Amino acid sequence: MGGRDTELVLLDENGIRCDGRKVDEPRRIMIKAGGLKNADGSAYIEFGDNKILVGVFGPRDVHPKHMSNTDTGILRVRYHMEPFSVTERKNPAPSRREIEISKVIKEALEPAIMLDKFPRTAVDVYIEVLQADGGTRCAALSAASVALADAGIPMRDMVAACAAGKAADTIILDVNNEEDQAGQADMPIGYMPSTDKITLLQLDGVLTPEEFKKCVETGIKGCKIVYELQKKALTEKYFANGDSK
Ligand code: CDP
Repeated sequence: MGGRDTELVLLDENGIRCDGRKVDEPRRIMIKAGGLKNADGSAYIEFGDNKILVGVFGPRDVHPKHMSNTDTGILRVRYHMEPFSVTERKNPAPSRREIEISKVIKEALEPAIMLDKFPRTAVDVYIEVLQADGGTRCAALSAASVALADAGIPMRDMVAACAAGKAADTIILDVNNEEDQAGQADMPIGYMPSTDKITLLQLDGVLTPEEFKKCVETGIKGCKIVYELQKKALTEKYFANGDSK
């Protein structure tokens, strides 16, 4: 894309990142459960400048019927980016990237959902990215978990997601768009806190074994922060008077 007029400083001499955060500080996160009256469950998340809406439908009949499974329910996930969600208009047709992200989110959610409880049916998760700013798969996965819980789908736990990465030779929590583009590594992580299980782990970049370990630990810290906000979103919807008992 050519040279920049002013060089981007990913980490300054005081350890402050390009958006003013400390190395272990996530962006501002807001999660709301519910909101879509025609969906069985829904959620909205703002994760920094990412804005994502998720609608869940089901368990419901599968058409065509031969796509169903007599032993278990099936999960279908569609991650979709609005053409206006990024600076350079995105073609509305499904891209390879959207197909990949739909697949990894589906696989990250499957271990959390008790699909065997509703054979022959499908649960559909529709993810609409309204605004993207790096880390949409993690934000979408976290919101999808809340939307599934909001739909009353039996789950072992919610999957909380957050990325860690490396920029300016330092392991950082919650990689933003600039750090993703100009940094050294991006590692999105999906994690189920109650079972201590990782259900999503991708890595774009190169890390030493020590950095890899630190990156996973840092990402899990972020997931735990997200998890508290997921629970808060559900508590706010279902116990509006603040009584979560
Ligand atoms: O969003 P996530 O980090 O999970 O996935 P990515 O493929 O690493 O994309 C990083 C970021 O690139 C997205 O969050 C968007 O902000 C941006 N992007 C874009 O500007 N135009 C696209 N067509 C796709 C992504």
